[in-house]
Formats: sequence, C-alpha cells, structure tokens
Amino acid sequence: MTHLFDPLKIKDIILRNRVGVSPMCQYSYTDGFSNDWQVIHLGARAVGGAGLVIAEATAVEARGRITPFDVGIWRDEHIDPLRRVVKVVKENGAVPGIQIAHAGRKACVGQPWTGGRPVQEGDPLWWPVVGASPIAFSEEHQVPNELTVEEISAIRKRFVEGAQRSLAAGFEWLEIHGAHGYLLQSFCSPLSNQRGDQYGGVLENRVRFLLEVVRDVRRVWPERLPLTVRISGTEWMEGGWNVQDSLVLARLLKEEGVDLVDCSSAGNLEKAPVPTDPGYQVHIAEAVRRGAGILTAAVGLITTAQQAEEIIHSGSADLVLLGREMLRSPYWAILAAKELGQAPPVPPQYLRAF
Ligand SMILES: Cc1cc2nc3c(=O)[nH]c(=O)nc-3n(C[C@H](O)[C@H](O)[C@H](O)COP(=O)(O)O)c2cc1C
Repeated sequence: MTHLFDPLKIKDIILRNRVGVSPMCQYSYTDGFSNDWQVIHLGARAVGGAGLVIAEATAVEARGRITPFDVGIWRDEHIDPLRRVVKVVKENGAVPGIQIAHAGRKACVGQPWTGGRPVQEGDPLWWPVVGASPIAFSEEHQVPNELTVEEISAIRKRFVEGAQRSLAAGFEWLEIHGAHGYLLQSFCSPLSNQRGDQYGGVLENRVRFLLEVVRDVRRVWPERLPLTVRISGTEWMEGGWNVQDSLVLARLLKEEGVDLVDCSSAGNLEKAPVPTDPGYQVHIAEAVRRGAGILTAAVGLITTAQQAEEIIHSGSADLVLLGREMLRSPYWAILAAKELGQAPPVPPQYLRAF
C-alpha cells in the first residue's frame, strides 16, 4: 500500500514525497526573464516540504506567452536566471520541474488581476496569435492565424530548444503543457481544430502535433529524467474531447516514452460547465492510470491531507499536485505530514515551530 509521504522514484529522480506544487503562472516578468519573485515563490514551497515544485507555463516562443509578462525560455539568456530557481528548489529538498508551453489562440491577454482581457491591436504589447484553425477562443479574443505545416515544424523546434534550455538550467522534471486550451490541446479538440490536413480530422491526426513534440523532446531530454505531459482529460462538453479520448492519447504518450500524465481538464471552451467539487478531476487520473498503465498525477481542488492520502492510497494516482492551496499554505506538506502521523519534512531552522 502506498502513502502520500512515501518517496516516488521515476527514472533516476526520487521525490521525497508525492506532494507536488502545480505549475502556476505568476505573470510577473519582463521579456520572459525569471526574477526574484519566481525564486521566492517556488523556493518557499520547497522549504514547505513539497517533493516536486513545477515552475509555471514557460513560453517556448514570445508569441506563445499568455500575457506579455509571462516567463519564457525562448532565448539562451533566459537560462541563467532560471538556474537561480533550480538552485533554491534543490537546496531545499524538492525536485525542480518546469512546464514548457505555447499559449496558441489564448495568447496575448492581460494579467488576470487587470481583467485578463485580450490586448488590443495598436497597443505596443499586442502581437498576432496562432492556432489550429481560425476559430477564436471567445468573442473578445483574436481570431488566430491557422498554422501552416512549416510553421508547426518550426514550433516543434521551439519546444526542443525549450527542453534543451530547461536541461541547461538544471531542471530535472519536464512537463509539456498539453492542456487548458493552449496550442497543443487546441489541436487535440475537435471543437477548436477543423483542419483538413494531416493535423486535423480523426483523433490520430489531431494528437499528431502533441505526439511529435513529445517525440522530438524525448530525443533531447535525457532518458534518466522524467518527461511528463499535462492533458485536459475532458472538455466537459458533448462532442468535445473526453476521458475515453484521453485513454487513447495516454497510451500513445506512453509509447513515446512519457513517464507520467498530469491529468487536468477543461480550458479550451469558454462556456464549458466545469465542476467545482473537491477532487473533481481525480477520476481522470484514475481512469488514465488504470486504462493506459501509466503513472498519473491528480490535480484540482485537492486541499486536505486526508483527501490527498486517499488518492495515493486508493491507487487513483501516483502523485498529487496542489495549486491554490499551495498559494494559501506554502507549508502544506509539513502540516499534512504531521496530520497523517508521518515525519514532517521540516527544515531545521523551522523545527521549533512544528
Ligand atoms: C494563479 C494560477 C496560475 C496557473 N497557471 C498554470 C500554469 O502555468 N500551467 C498549468 O498547467 N496550470 C496552471 N494553473 C492551474 C493549476 O496548475 C491547477 O491545475 C488548478 O489551479 C487546479 O488545482 P487547484 O484546485 O489545486 O488550484 C494555474 C492556476 C492558478 C490558480
């Protein structure tokens, strides 16, 4: 029987426990450069005892940023500041992970706290966005330029370069962002991809771009390090991508050498009725784990120690990722270990507090 505070070994990497910090955009950077905020934000959560800390969606090209303020990895100069993040996370006992991403048709919007609306053409921060088909995410969003096959190849290269730079920065866990309506997932969904070429139509065609990126990246990302993919397991919409499709995709990802599938959902359809009950996505992690025989991470409204322990204990997932609860409580893992009667991962400087 496996528990939340048992280590997880994947390839040469050992997480001290199965608590991970879910990638969370901070929209706090200039020209894609990591900074003190990211060091503190992620470092604090390593100090807080998490086994894995995944740096937020990191853009593989400038037009693949969600906002003009996203962190990025499209230039060699981005590597050095990211090394500081890696160092502080590792020094504090967690494995440093990074999510590499391209926002596709959802790119070029403002920070959420300024309303998150699309940047208007004519604004110096505006750029034209790209996607699978010329279908906008919402009435307000730009209609994306449909990528040509040559442009798709170019973006595959950007992902490869992003992976190489992630390695150079010292990250030991790589997640490809294949969820939430961003570029790679927007190709997978029949509702946002209406292409007539080899990247559109049947499921095998719609997942082609994601699989190609995975294959390309696996070639440069060392075999000894975990390669993972975040998927949107369902779009919560009749006629959209569903859990059965995810099982097919997960099997294909496994064949390409993916070590773990991070099972999120939604994000591609503005009006999808996404549930808001605790652990609302755990069933996806469980279905993928059992159906595809691959390790999974569960994420989404997981907030209590008992809930997280149950997910691991029942075999629904191999790893639990927390997002917003980690923002509220950076020491969540220490507190959860204490609650579960396990040795808490407390740094010695803080021992008198726990
Ligand atoms: C502020 C914020 C930023 C986020 N940024 C990302 C991101 O960069 N990449 C990603 O895959 N998901 C992102 N998400 C989604 C979270 O990783 C997580 O999957 C989601 O919040 C559900 O988990 P939770 O209920 O524990 O917060 C973000 C969520 C929040 C709240």
